[in-house]
Order: sequence, then C-alpha cells, then structure tokens
Amino acid sequence: MDKIIIHGGKQLSGSIQISGAKNAALTLLPCALLTDEPLTLRNLPRLADIDSFQHLMNQFGVSTAIAGSRPEDFGRVMTLEATRITSNVAPYDLVRKMRASILVLGPMLARMGEAKVSLPGGCAIGNRPIDLHLKVLEALGATIELASGYVRAIAPDGGLPGGRYSFPVVSVGATENALMAAVLASGKSTLHNAAREPEIVDLCNLLVAMGAQIEGIGASDIVIHGVPRLHGATYRVMSDRIEAGSYACAAAITGGDVLLKNACIEEMEATVQAFRDAGLIVEPRGADLYVAADGPLRPVQVTTAPFPGFATDMQAQLMAMLCRADGASVLTETIFENRYMHVPELNRMGANIETSGKTAIVHGVPRLSGAEVMATDLRASMSLVIAGLAAEGETQVHRLYHLDRGYERLEEKLLGAGAQIERVGDD
Ligand code: UD1
Repeated sequence: MDKIIIHGGKQLSGSIQISGAKNAALTLLPCALLTDEPLTLRNLPRLADIDSFQHLMNQFGVSTAIAGSRPEDFGRVMTLEATRITSNVAPYDLVRKMRASILVLGPMLARMGEAKVSLPGGCAIGNRPIDLHLKVLEALGATIELASGYVRAIAPDGGLPGGRYSFPVVSVGATENALMAAVLASGKSTLHNAAREPEIVDLCNLLVAMGAQIEGIGASDIVIHGVPRLHGATYRVMSDRIEAGSYACAAAITGGDVLLKNACIEEMEATVQAFRDAGLIVEPRGADLYVAADGPLRPVQVTTAPFPGFATDMQAQLMAMLCRADGASVLTETIFENRYMHVPELNRMGANIETSGKTAIVHGVPRLSGAEVMATDLRASMSLVIAGLAAEGETQVHRLYHLDRGYERLEEKLLGAGAQIERVGDD
C-alpha cells in the first residue's frame, strides 16, 4: 500500500483547482436508472468511489462511456445509458465497499418496480442505519422486505403512487432516495424536514433537467409531482465544497494563502463564517474563493449540523487547523457518533485535544511534530495531511485508500501550492 510523505513547515501559496463534488456525483450517477435515454455528466471527479459506482451501474446492464480523460484534464465526462436494465440487485460485495450504493434503491424501484440492495455493513463513523430510506419509500407506496442481508423494495402494480413523509431526523441520503423514487410516481409526494444540502439542490436540478416536476428545491418541504417518464440530459456536477474547505484549512495552518478555483461561497457559508471567526481572510473573486491567514489563528466554537449549519464532513479538517490556534476551541459533533477517531492521531503529532462525548476541546499548541499516522475514514485522513503540512519534520500518512476515495490528485494539488509532499510505495 502507498503512503504519503510530507515535510511540513512550507507556507502554501498558489491556486488549487476544485474538483466536482464526490457526494453530488454519487447521487447524480444513479439518476441514469430513471430513463432509457443517455445521461451525460460533466465535471465528474476521478475518485475510487466514482469508479466503484460506475462498476455497480454496469452490473445493472447500464452502459458507461468516459471521455475527457486526458491526464491533464480535471474532471471527466461520463455518458450512462440504461436502455435495458438486466439486473435490479446491488450485491454485497459492491455495497460493502461503498455505502452510497444504497442510493440505487429509490431510482431502481421507480423504474423497475422492484429493487434489491445488500444492507450496508457497519461504518467507521458510527452506526449509520438506513431505516429512514426504507420508511420514506414505504410512505411513497413501496413494500419493504428484509431477508438474508438484503433489502427488497417492491412497488404495487402500476408503480409507486407517491405519498407524504416527515423525516424525524434530517438525512441527506434518505432525501435523495425519496426524490429519485418520487419523480416517476403516479401521484404527488410531499417530503417534510428534507435535507437542504447543496448536493440535494444539484440532484433536484438534474431531475428537473430530465423532466421532473419539483417544487421547493433547496427548502425543507419539497413537493414532487410524479411524471410518467423522464428523458436524458447533459449536466455539470457542482464543485466540491468539502474539498475546497479542506484546502483552505491546509493553506491557513501554514500561515499561507490559496485561490480555490471554482469554489462557491454560497454553498460554504457556515465554513466561511468559522474561517472568519478564526481570523482568516475569505474573499470571493469571480468564480473563485481566496482564503488567507492573517496573523495567528484564533480559537472558535463550532457545532456540526445539517445544512445550512457547519458540515460534519469539515469537522476533522477544521480541528486540525485549530490545533495551531492561539487558545482553546470547542467543537461539537451532532451528526455522527464516533467521528473523533482522528483525535488520538493528531495528539500523537503533538496536538492537545480532549474529547468528552460529542464535544472536543482543542487547546492550541505552538508546534506540531511529524509522525507516522493513519486514519480510518476519509475526512480524518485529510485532517492528518493538514496537520502534517504544518508539523516540524516528516509526517507519513498510511492507509491512503480513504484519501483516494475522496480527494482527486491530492499530492499534485498541494505540490502546486508549494507543499513538500510525495506518494511512495509502502515497504
Ligand atoms: C451524507 C454524505 C456524508 C455526510 C452526511 C451528513 C454522501 C455520499 N455522504 O451521508 O459524507 O457526512 O451526508 O452530511 O452524500 N440516519 C438514520 N437513519 C437513516 C439515515 C441516516 O438514523 O436511515 C442518521 C445517521 O446515522 C446520521 C444522520 O442521520 O446520524 C445523518 O445521516 P445522513 O444525512 O443520512 O448521511 P448520509 O446520507 O449517509
């Protein structure tokens, strides 16, 4: 397995191209199941998770063709064509690797009247049940059966009628599954307390481009008027707001500055607020976002929450940055239990972080020191890279599998901004 070696202490400065959003791409890809016409997605990031999803779509008999994959291109163009679906089963082997496979349940059910998806296993950042996915599909008219580790969703003859559901907890994935199921229902569906994340808006915009009728896009109450069929479309995946925030933390911890090419400030308001509270300069510049350190980092208090709150996916990276702040920051994680697994690794690098339940107190330290580290999830891995960029000496980050799921060409992007970083084969 490869590892990343960072020689810390170099001040970052330069521009970094932000890729298409992983989490948006993972809900736009299954939309190909909703039509027998071609769906072309532009600005798809080159990531292991996207490759896995492509593989899953191929298993269903969906053809996929990739263009624009010259090595110098950021972003790929993929055309998916589900003229004939030959299987409606998402097998254990693929779902195990990528939890987002559950997002085929809604569209497959809508198109084929039946879908069978392996239950995702446990997950490093908490239990992550799928009960809300199943409850909302039931509310739209599906029958759900659980057997032998699989969930089977069946629509009545004539397809899903549609229905009303109020989410007890905001769930991004369950909202996505519900939207993709409801667009082809025979009647109207209403979702209350739906997720409002920008990735949900991206999904709705694609569905509308395919002919869906959706009211309340970006709101927590969404009304979907089912249509008999959807058509093909060409659509550009939104920029990755989490990737943009991660590189901002990377530049800031080194006392540097970065122009995040194609980062959208409206989609990152809570993150930007936290950056400004920490003393960073944040300025939109056309389609880009400029972020710069401006003196010592100040401590902040941040609580993760569904959008428009501070994203749980930015918690670990912000925490790494705050390790070097001038005082004690307080972070509270309300979305996932078990999402502080980066803390012991950051502490091994000289950080001073205490956790108690949902709360972490990050006492800023004057210096971090390089170490051999590894993390068990994607954002936790990035937090170690961020800490390594500011640490004295050499940091080795192992288990790159996670980073490769979510950060396109990480080393290349950081190298371009002046970091000393390389990927080498593990011995
Ligand atoms: C998505 C993102 C993930 C992000 C998360 C929260 C993708 C591929 N992943 O994950 O990066 O961290 O949103 O912004 O887009 N819950 C239930 N039952 C369910 C579903 C969820 O109890 O059926 C709970 C979860 O355990 C969690 C909370 O709801 O506590 C939010 O989870 P959810 O928004 O569903 O996250 P994902 O869609 O899995």
